[in-house]
Amino acid sequence: MADQRIDTLFDAERIAVRVDEIAKEIALAKFERLLVIPVLKGSFVFAADLLRALHHAGLGIEVDFLSLSSYRAGTVSSGQVTIVRDVETDVAGRAVILVDDILESGRTLAFAKDLMAARGADPVLTCVLLNKPEKRATQIDADFTGFECPDLFVVGYGMDMAHSYRELPFVGVVIADD
Ligand code: IMP
Ligand code: MG
Repeated sequence: MADQRIDTLFDAERIAVRVDEIAKEIALAKFERLLVIPVLKGSFVFAADLLRALHHAGLGIEVDFLSLSSYRAGTVSSGQVTIVRDVETDVAGRAVILVDDILESGRTLAFAKDLMAARGADPVLTCVLLNKPEKRATQIDADFTGFECPDLFVVGYGMDMAHSYRELPFVGVVIADD
């Protein structure tokens, strides 16, 4: 991608500090048998750091993964959410935290939340690295949020543009050079 550059929005150090703060907030709630569910794929780097921060914050947890697809045409969400890979854990009666990279329209997380609640998880909480409220289409707020994010398409720290840039250790904005 020679004709693109990435401008840093949240650098690695700032993200690391915030991830530790969120882990401490979550630990304060003292959930029993907490099940952490990263919503794949975009959350995998955030979740990996958050899980270790939760350990450092003194929390014992279980982890399972949910992979959802929100049928995005390019950088715009179409609204339909489907399960690509379901959790293997029986969530009934469990405290669950869904972890995602970005809360934008809210459809992905609302779908995951409804799914877990319908299966009897209680409480069902949500934790997102970035909140992008401008395009919200459902009434949902995350219980734990890393940063408020401007209405820009961001990449890095797990987030992609056409499968590129997930490996970047920071969150940035793609700038087309011409
Ligand atoms: P929602 O269902 O509109 O809330 O979609 C949220 C999902 O869309 C996130 O989990 C991301 O996977 C993806 N997404 C939304 N905005 C961006 C972005 O700026 N960069 C990369 N992925 C994004
Ligand atoms: Mg996602």
